Amino acid sequence: HRHLLGIEALRPEEINTLLDLADSYAALNRQPDKHADALKGLTQINMFFENSTRTQASFEIAGKRLGADVMNMAMQASSVKKGETLIDTALTLNAMHPDLLVVRHPQSGAVDLLAQKVNCAVLNAGDGRHEHPTQALLDALTIRRAKGRLHRLSIAICGDIAHSRVARSNIMLLGKMENRIRLIGPPTLMPAGISEFGVEVFNDMNEGLKDVDVVMMLRLQKERMDGGFIPSEREYYHRFGLDADKLSNAKPDAIIMHPGPMNRGVEIDGTLADDINRSVIQDQVEMGVAVRMAAMDLLSQNLRLTRGAE
Ligand code: CP
Repeated sequence: HRHLLGIEALRPEEINTLLDLADSYAALNRQPDKHADALKGLTQINMFFENSTRTQASFEIAGKRLGADVMNMAMQASSVKKGETLIDTALTLNAMHPDLLVVRHPQSGAVDLLAQKVNCAVLNAGDGRHEHPTQALLDALTIRRAKGRLHRLSIAICGDIAHSRVARSNIMLLGKMENRIRLIGPPTLMPAGISEFGVEVFNDMNEGLKDVDVVMMLRLQKERMDGGFIPSEREYYHRFGLDADKLSNAKPDAIIMHPGPMNRGVEIDGTLADDINRSVIQDQVEMGVAVRMAAMDLLSQNLRLTRGAE
């Protein structure tokens, strides 16, 4: 592949190849010297048109550990504020010969559009409610390391599914790897026609969490609710927030995941989030760096091959 725009285009064997490479980078990241030279001589530009802590920091660290020259565009201070369009901004940066563009944008499809206009590799760091492929890949690596496999697991994705690019990418990835996926949340936060994706849908946490291996919680994404129905946080926590009582329905060794940012006391009890025997939330962050190193390494190999052939 020339770009990493979504999980949709990836085959299971390609996902496994990427996760294997990410596993080796996870080992490197625990060494005193964390450097490799897979991106040596290459230029990486991070363009985040939407807020981020984990994704932006880990893409920057990943690029630097692999030897790239990394530049973070401060989009809030850029000429976008003077009315320059996304495409004109991308073309301007493209003229500076970057090799890797990492893009987050509030509109679904914006990153795909941008990828058609530039001649470097583009990585989608989250576009609207469409896809967040590196998040699904880091979640997959976290599950594989915790459970020893990434197939035939029962996985519950809970909360605001309708507005979540994380849920969408995870449903595709975990489905491709032949897992059983349960979606749990209020009907108002469930996308229309979702059962066509081969998932089971529940509106009750106790029922949906029965005997699952993995519990993945999601934040209420109010920024994408377009003035529509926003549930009361108190009521939401009561019915859909993960607490010890609801978790007791899952398998005794079920792991707790959350992509972050997390709202304690809204979708998850803070004590559970911090429980190192159950929660792998910090492992997800750690795997984020390794997966992004692997993704940029593989794309840069393709880039060098394509350029060599031109
Ligand atoms: N999970 C995730 O994408 O977090 P950020 O928005 O902080 O990057």
